[in-house]
Amino acid sequence: MNHPVESKNLFQRRKSHRKFDKNQPIPQTTLENILTDALRAPSWSNTQPWEVFVAAGSTLEEIREAYLAAFDRSEPYNTDVPVPKEWPEYMQERSIRNSIHMFECMGIDREDEKARELNRRNNISFFDGTALVIICQERSLTDWSTMDLGTFAGYLVLAAEHHEVQSVPAFNSIAYPQILREKLSIPDHLILRSGVVLGYAVEDSPYNEHSSEREALHQMVHFLN
Ligand SMILES: Cc1cc2nc3c(=O)[nH]c(=O)nc-3n(C[C@H](O)[C@H](O)[C@H](O)COP(=O)(O)O)c2cc1C
Repeated sequence: MNHPVESKNLFQRRKSHRKFDKNQPIPQTTLENILTDALRAPSWSNTQPWEVFVAAGSTLEEIREAYLAAFDRSEPYNTDVPVPKEWPEYMQERSIRNSIHMFECMGIDREDEKARELNRRNNISFFDGTALVIICQERSLTDWSTMDLGTFAGYLVLAAEHHEVQSVPAFNSIAYPQILREKLSIPDHLILRSGVVLGYAVEDSPYNEHSSEREALHQMVHFLN
């Protein structure tokens, strides 16, 4: 009989991880295999509108240090793409439900400011991930290409899972675009759209205990036969 976890397919198995082993780098060939697979993502007329930068090794350590220093100076986040001011109520509810469960799994109490601060520092230092993938887009492009970039990001996290590397797409990873522009030589004509952290998860960390839920199939998908 199959173990239930082993029987899960790639899509059901993948989840975001929030604590990686800092001392276990991803081999360059594995990184290249993941990115090669992610580059198979479809795009409008095969325009492939993504431009991708991967930071690892000492480059990533420099970025991590600069991020933590900016965070400690209380420098405000300054993403190229503005953050939504509000969400429709029913989406906000999903987000809150997800956060409550995540904090419960992490063992972080609402009132425990010290633990919450540690969690924020974990976020801003890329969860100790060993590779950071920054996905950029030419400024002149439209929402159609932004959708293609989202598809690429989805392929990327699944490709990572396929190659037994864990991941998390992370808003926090592009919180200080000026640092990334400088350290990765990203030109001004590119917008930093999203960042995905990769690494080998610390499996027994409470930061990795949470698994997110999904709405039921028939609530989200309208089949009309
Ligand atoms: C654009 C984007 C930004 C995200 N930013 C963060 C983040 O800054 N910190 C974090 O812990 N998770 C972040 N996530 C992960 C989501 O919380 C996660 O994908 C969602 O809760 C669903 O869980 P799953 O990925 O485990 O299926 C982000 C996901 C996306 C797609």
